[in-house]
Parts: sequence; C-alpha cells; structure tokens
Amino acid sequence: MASESLDKIRLTSAVPNHVAIIMDGNGRWAKQKGLPRQVGHREGMKSVRETIEGAIEAGIKILTLFAFSTENWNRPRKEVASLISLLRHYSRKERDSLKRQGVEVHVLGEIERFDDSTQEAVDLIVKGTKGGRTLRLNLMISYGGREEILRSVKVLAERVDQGGLAVDDIDEEALRQTLLTGNMPDPDLLIRTSGEYRISNFMLWQIAYAELHITPVLWPDFTRDHLFEAVLDYQRRDRRFGLIETS
Ligand code: FPP
Repeated sequence: MASESLDKIRLTSAVPNHVAIIMDGNGRWAKQKGLPRQVGHREGMKSVRETIEGAIEAGIKILTLFAFSTENWNRPRKEVASLISLLRHYSRKERDSLKRQGVEVHVLGEIERFDDSTQEAVDLIVKGTKGGRTLRLNLMISYGGREEILRSVKVLAERVDQGGLAVDDIDEEALRQTLLTGNMPDPDLLIRTSGEYRISNFMLWQIAYAELHITPVLWPDFTRDHLFEAVLDYQRRDRRFGLIETS
C-alpha cells in the first residue's frame, strides 16, 4: 500500500510543500487499551518518527507538528510533566538520526516557559540539526495561534510607537513577517487526527487557505500510509484561493 500511494503521489506534480498536523487522540488511544494517557503520548512519538520519514519520501519540504499547546499547561501536573519529559527525551534521542536524514528542526512557541534542562535539550536539537536541507521540521510547543497574533500586533505597535513604521504601512505582509513562521510559506495542507472538526487555536493566520484533511485515525495509529492518503486527498482538490474555477 505505501509504495502504491507513493507512486500515485509522484504521478501528479502538486505535492504540498508545507504540511501541518494537529496530532490528536493519544489519550483516547490509551484509554481504549486500558493504559495510562502517558503511554498514548509515548506511542505518539513513534508516529512522529514515521510521519517524518513519510514526509521525506513524499517530497514534502516543511512539516509542522502541534506538539504542545498553550492550553496543555492546564492539564493535570503529572501529564504536563510527562509531555515535557517526552519532549526532552525526543530532543536528546532523535537528534543524530534527524541530522543524518537531513532534517532541520525549528522549535516555535513560548520556549521560555519550560525548565532549564528542557530548554537546553531543545536548543541542542535545533543547533545539532542546523543546515539540514531535506525537510524543515517545526515543532510547535507551548504554542497558541491567538497568542502568536497578539505578539505580532505588539511588535508592530512598538515599531509605530518608536517611529519606525507608519500605521498605513501595516498590511498583511507586515503582520505575516512578524509571526513565528515569518520566514516560511503557509501550510498547504492541514491534517487533524482523531476525527475532531476543530482548529484548536492552531496557526490561525497561516491556515487561511490550507486544505483540511480530517481522519478518524488516532495519532498513535497514524502511519506513513495515512500521510500519503492525506496527500492524495489534497491532490484531488481544486485550490482556488477565493478565485473562480480554473478548469
Ligand atoms: C493530543 O492527544 C496530543 C498531545 C497533547 C501531545 C502530542 C505529543 C506527542 C505526539 C508526543 C510527543 C511529540 C514530540 C514531537 C516530542 P490528547 O492527549 O489530546 O488525546 P485525547 O484528545 O484523546 O485525550
């Protein structure tokens, strides 16, 4: 199945350049098996590995994963601690193999909210993979879409305040550039697992024209085949960006 889907993807030219994923359903996956939620998150890490490999095979250039939202801080202390410990573990363990694969890791979000040893681990994976040219991997941690837009508004307001920017010069491009994703194109495809039809405060500005693919598969069960299915679904869409039909 995997190679069949890959062949189909290669036959059409429009592989999405940037794919973003809301990884959801770790808790339900664990509950179904009578296991603690943490086990679901741990299994979810395997899907992260699998998805990165699939993205490289499909020729996707940017992969953005929603790994920890600003709202996640409000979960029970034990679960927050386990998510943070997974992030540390992931950063230390995966650095070398990501480097070998040519993956350049970027971590976007309120990194300063994490403890020193997590920040150090994150810093090491970012520095250790710098220069990778095959895939750019954005890990969104302690990230919220509204917070990101608010931060941009403040940056622009400060520039106006200091006389470096005229109010009339505040346009979409000016705001876009100040986002955490300011130096990259918007996602072409947004995938959400676990069958929820919600955006959950993820990349609110950037997904204005993204194609949405929602799958009932729970994140720990997500494989490269599911990624290829989403890409094939994307390739069947007629993207019009608010314009009229092209064919
Ligand atoms: C949503 O499942 C998932 C998360 C809150 C965290 C995602 C984290 C991982 C996949 C593992 C770590 C990844 C990296 C890159 C370090 P949920 O708990 O909301 O599931 P539920 O909706 O079924 O309760």
